[in-house]
Amino acid sequence: MNAPSGVGRVSARAGWHPAVAGSLGGPCSLGPPGVPHQHRGVTGADSQTQRGARGRRDWSTWPHYDAAAAGFRGYWYPVAWSNQVTGKPTGVTLCGDKIALVRDQGTAYALHDRCPHRGVPLSLGRREFPGTLSCPYHGWTYDLTDGELVAAITDGPQSPICGKARVATYPVAERLGMVWVYVPIAGEDPHPIDEQLPEELAENPFVMGGRMDDRAGNWRFACENGYDEGHAKYLHRTSLWRLFKAMPTWNVTRIVPEGRWIYRKQEEQFWEADFPGLGRWSNKRWWKLDPPAAKAGSRPSNIGNTGAAAKVDPVIAAQNFPGFASVSMPGVLRIAYPKFIHYEFYVPVDADRHLYVGVMVNFLRGPATLKFYAKYLGWIRWLFHGQFSGQDAWMVDVTDAPPEQLYRPDVSLTSWRGLAEKEFKAKLAAIRKEDG
Ligand code: FES
Ligand SMILES: [Fe+2]
Repeated sequence: MNAPSGVGRVSARAGWHPAVAGSLGGPCSLGPPGVPHQHRGVTGADSQTQRGARGRRDWSTWPHYDAAAAGFRGYWYPVAWSNQVTGKPTGVTLCGDKIALVRDQGTAYALHDRCPHRGVPLSLGRREFPGTLSCPYHGWTYDLTDGELVAAITDGPQSPICGKARVATYPVAERLGMVWVYVPIAGEDPHPIDEQLPEELAENPFVMGGRMDDRAGNWRFACENGYDEGHAKYLHRTSLWRLFKAMPTWNVTRIVPEGRWIYRKQEEQFWEADFPGLGRWSNKRWWKLDPPAAKAGSRPSNIGNTGAAAKVDPVIAAQNFPGFASVSMPGVLRIAYPKFIHYEFYVPVDADRHLYVGVMVNFLRGPATLKFYAKYLGWIRWLFHGQFSGQDAWMVDVTDAPPEQLYRPDVSLTSWRGLAEKEFKAKLAAIRKEDG
């Protein structure tokens, strides 16, 4: 489903109230500037890449990641804004599964979008009785909670088929003003969704604006682009979002693991560089502000991408992020700025498409929130979640790898793949143990 954007206030755990919706572009990792890469201490995967002069022919180093073209099952994914899931069913595709979404008496439900009778999509049906959904063809009627066939309308009340058919149901939760669906691996119970959300969102009240965008390209290319160290300084140099702010030419980056996240830490930033025999290259322009770090020659900050920030929001400062860009499973990007945090969720539709979900969060309260809404609607959604992110969507669509020949900044990519591989392996082992 193609979803629009929204803006709203969110309490710590539950729903928000979308105040505005509209379509626009989403952001990317904004990444910027700064995030460096590692000079030493490269992973085994990297050494392997570097040994082969012609690069990497496949992703066999990360077999689970390689196999996850249609997404990692065993996680929660946002699939629609809450206000888009109504009493009229709608269909989405998630990890290749066709899913019908419908709301009944305030609760959102998700069912496999295929009637077992003749394979017609249930998302084309309607609610004939409370707590049920009926197929549009012959009126087979399913209980929304467990998918049991409770009536076959065109075979009368005593139809013997009742109780002998059912459709699969999916666990559903609502967070950040969105409907989230858990895609099981083997019929297991889901982990609590809050264990998968960025910790600071489960613990603090905030306001947010966001956008959902159905995009071409594999979800892994989108996630890799979001966490990619190298591209922002070059691809986004022309974006309007960065019109008045210079970005470095290159960085020295280190990847710092912490908890279930890995962080890109900018160790050094180089605002200009001399390329022997070629000349000088710089992202600086006379009309762009010199970032504070460039002026002071100080070490880059872990908040924001262009150096030291004068004032950092106390909630953001309290997180003590080791680096300004971080990523966690199953494809959640967090970019911490001095006054807000930007998140991206890369939702696998199937092997060829993904749902881009960009969310800008501000931890203000009271009248100050009005300023956030004004900023979000005034320019953030157009410049950042719009044109800037559109540059990423363009690259994700045309990326074609493997094969690939990686360079130093791509430690961001290999580290993310390593994290995904490790976490998913642990998840599989835990599920097998439960079964066993
Ligand atoms: S196909 Fe669904 S009721 Fe016949
Ligand atoms: Fe980007």
